[in-house]
Amino acid sequence: MKKTEIVICLGSSCFSRGNKMTLRVIQDYLLEHNLKDRVFFHGAHCLGECEKGPLLQIGGKRYENVTADNVTALLNSVFGE
Ligand code: FES
Repeated sequence: MKKTEIVICLGSSCFSRGNKMTLRVIQDYLLEHNLKDRVFFHGAHCLGECEKGPLLQIGGKRYENVTADNVTALLNSVFGE
C-alpha cells in the first residue's frame, strides 16, 4: 500500500511557534492509531511560507496555522476516524 506522506516544517519559525509540540502530538497519534506502517512522517527545513505557519503537509496538501490543538481534528479528517 502506498504510504501517506506527512511533512512537518521544522524551520525555526514554525518550530518555535508550535511545531515542536505538534510533532509530538502527531507521533502519538500515529502510534495510537496504528498508522506507522501507512504513513511516512518526516520533517523539513523551512517551506518558504513562514507567515502562514506553522505549516504541515499531508499527502502533498499544505495546511496553514496548524497547532497542537487543531492537528488531531486534521488527522482525523484525513485518516477517517
Ligand atoms: S519555518 Fe516553516 S515555512 Fe518557514
